[in-house]
Amino acid sequence: MANQIKTIGVLTSGGDAPGMNAAIRSVVRKAIANGVAVKGVKKGYQGLLNEEIVDMDRHSVSDIIQRGGTILGTARCSEFRTEEGQEKGAEICRKHGIDGLVVIGGDGSYRGAQELSRHGINTVGIPGTIDLDIACTDYTIGFDTAINTAMSAIDKVRDTSSSHERCSIIEVMGRNAGYIALWCGIANGAEDILLPEKYDYNEQNIINNIINNRKRGKTHHIIINAEGIGHSTSMARRIEAATGIETRATILGYMQRGGNPTCKDRFYASVMGAYAADILCQGKSNRVVAYRKGEFTDFDIEEALAMKKDIPEYQYEVSRVLAQ
Ligand code: ADP
Ligand code: F6P
Repeated sequence: MANQIKTIGVLTSGGDAPGMNAAIRSVVRKAIANGVAVKGVKKGYQGLLNEEIVDMDRHSVSDIIQRGGTILGTARCSEFRTEEGQEKGAEICRKHGIDGLVVIGGDGSYRGAQELSRHGINTVGIPGTIDLDIACTDYTIGFDTAINTAMSAIDKVRDTSSSHERCSIIEVMGRNAGYIALWCGIANGAEDILLPEKYDYNEQNIINNIINNRKRGKTHHIIINAEGIGHSTSMARRIEAATGIETRATILGYMQRGGNPTCKDRFYASVMGAYAADILCQGKSNRVVAYRKGEFTDFDIEEALAMKKDIPEYQYEVSRVLAQ
């Protein structure tokens, strides 16, 4: 198996996520243990097209497992969406002797990997995104760190909200997905949780909720708003005007993407990284690593991209009941 694959590459693509470094480390060390050389491609597909490619050894991934971000850097690259860009990327892989590539990123990065495999380069994806929005897997690297960072921040905002008897709208990331909002909404005991998947944003209901809670003696009112709904600042202005209660918006932003990965993110990243290196060294291609129903597994990229994911109905129901 490993005699056909002599060298693999590894890159990180799309938004950075805590735990990506642990995944890079694991890919590098497991491939080397399999007798395969590793090259690091800097700055995602953009770096591939710019031939920013470096040799990696065990030592080049020392002291990174605990660090947030990605030592390889990441980027979004529009040129790689074109046929010419993909052909050029495959040619560059061949020029550098890269027989297979591990791509750590989200759905968009998998599409790039799929195109590369169509051009003859073996590829395996690893789910790296704080958004948890990849359908084939129950876990994505970075989610656990992001929700813990957001949860701590929301606890702090709640202190101020209670002291000043204010209403707080806290906007969390997730692009079009509401998983960070759902988890933090439940974990922070929010009074309202707004999820893009549920199309249930009803400002009058929120206003009534705030007024009723205030009458019952609640000193704070926390609304967790998902990025996919957005508009937190204008929402705060309207809610304050309608309720007469001071209302502030806090947009947590990139703090959710940074920081040292949690134990869970380091663990999943390490196992997924090793798994990706193994199947790539075995000559598999166009696969994505996943964690599903308690096991590490892999899927064809096309099959993975065709899968649909939604907020689990029971979790949603619980979030609604507990928020009342
Ligand atoms: P994520 O991987 O987190 O979903 P993006 O959607 O921004 O992030 O995708 C990351 C990169 O993957 C893009 O900048 C682009 O270079 C590449 N990519 C995305 N979609 C495609 C596509 N359809 N074909 C080829 N490459 C793509
Ligand atoms: O996919 C991770 C993520 O942080 C999303 O939650 C967010 O919508 C997006 O990336 C922001 O991307 P950018 O880095 O382009 O601001």
